[in-house]
Amino acid sequence: MNCYAVCINDWNSLSVSKTKIQFQCNECGAETPKWVGQCPDCMAWNTLQESIIEKKSTSDNNRFREHLAGPAEVCSLDAVETTETYRQATGLDELDRVMGGGLVNGSVTLIGGDPGIGKSTLLLQTLACLDSASGVPSLYVTGEESAQQVGLRGKRLGLSLGALRILTENHLERILNVASKEKARVIVIDSIQTVYSDILQSAPGSVAQVRECAAQLVRFAKQTNTALFLVGHVTKEGALAGPRVLEHMVDTVLYFEGDSSSRYRVVRTVKNRYGAVNELGIFAMTDKGLREVSNPSAIFLSRHEDPVSGSAIMVTREGTRPMLVEVQALVDQSHLGNPRRVALGLEQNRLAMLLAVLHRHVGISMSDQDVFTNVVGGVRISETAIDLPLLMAIVSSFKNKPLPQDMVMFGEVGLSGEIRPVQNGMERLNEAVKHGFKQSLIAEANKPKNAIKEMKTHSVKHLAQVMEILDF
Ligand code: TYD
Ligand code: MG
Repeated sequence: MNCYAVCINDWNSLSVSKTKIQFQCNECGAETPKWVGQCPDCMAWNTLQESIIEKKSTSDNNRFREHLAGPAEVCSLDAVETTETYRQATGLDELDRVMGGGLVNGSVTLIGGDPGIGKSTLLLQTLACLDSASGVPSLYVTGEESAQQVGLRGKRLGLSLGALRILTENHLERILNVASKEKARVIVIDSIQTVYSDILQSAPGSVAQVRECAAQLVRFAKQTNTALFLVGHVTKEGALAGPRVLEHMVDTVLYFEGDSSSRYRVVRTVKNRYGAVNELGIFAMTDKGLREVSNPSAIFLSRHEDPVSGSAIMVTREGTRPMLVEVQALVDQSHLGNPRRVALGLEQNRLAMLLAVLHRHVGISMSDQDVFTNVVGGVRISETAIDLPLLMAIVSSFKNKPLPQDMVMFGEVGLSGEIRPVQNGMERLNEAVKHGFKQSLIAEANKPKNAIKEMKTHSVKHLAQVMEILDF
């Protein structure tokens, strides 16, 4: 009888501790039960790695849910208690802007970007600013640099490092231990890829580790109402390494854009549960760290002494602020069977589509020309208002005829050659007036109700009209 019970017990424990193996993609985190050469989700080759599934018991899962979202009870949405989210100004206006107006307690922010672009510098400056301005206790956890390195950098940047606490640690459980003892209000983890947890056997930086560590840190932040910054590295392809899986766990995703060899850095909001997306914060990297650029229009315009062909000025409105940007194009005779189409800072497919519109509706063919296009200053434009300035820069380069130097333009170009309006036309025009532009070329529907005194407005309905006005 006894023996039977022991056997049953053994069998039970055996069946519980039986581990299951699965394969997980390094790039996107997709899971498959069998190894295959190509990830079925993101189509990347040779990225599947063996990992062990550790099944959490249902009671564990339920506890996790309760911590994150509160006990599961149905109530009417009207009756939910909503207190105004308290925002702490960080002292860096451009960072506040991309975070929707300041740091929210208990929020988790993921900052991604290429190595060397300035993530560590920005966060060190932020913590020092927070500390000196409002005495918020903060903790900087670094798994990449030594405390001396960070300290040296802080001193070189002339930051007041008075109460800023630093921890060099990779081990998740120890980090959580220290964090709860320190009672810091703001914590930075630099970077999430270097943190590992004892629960899993896989190496630091693997998808399973990154996901588990991030989940535990997020849980900690929500429970203790601590603001948390996670630094994430970017893969060669430009995705946050492993961490597409991370993006849905955090509240805000910020992304460092721009070339690390250029002086200017753009921080873009990709996701924000507390504010608008596509907001841009502009910084300049100097020998004293990152400096905010409060008048970005000035830096994205390369004012030419004499008029040059292939350059058009547009007013973009990424996020909540209008900004003047120069769009450049170079059209050159091609010696290739398949002429080149290069788009830097804008969408390649849009360029191809616009060239087709140009051919069909105005009769200008680029089939034997290489077309190179670029947005000055390393900024990326994702809105359709770039259509009109881009096409005009291309035609201007093709005909070798400069556009008027005092003209700005914006507008979407439709497939039938019509010029369509874009949002916030008046705000864009005001920004152009502020910078001394005297003419504008915009869609009919964007025309201001009351004429602007300082600016002549050409409003158009079709591409053919544009060609007439510009005398192409
Ligand atoms: P860093 O913040 O270490 O980048 P990340 O954490 O994103 O990898 O930034 C390092 C780069 O910034 C490095 O190439 C040198 C440059 N830099 C300056 O030009 N001036 C400065 O004052 C600092 C601190 C860095
Ligand atoms: Mg760094």
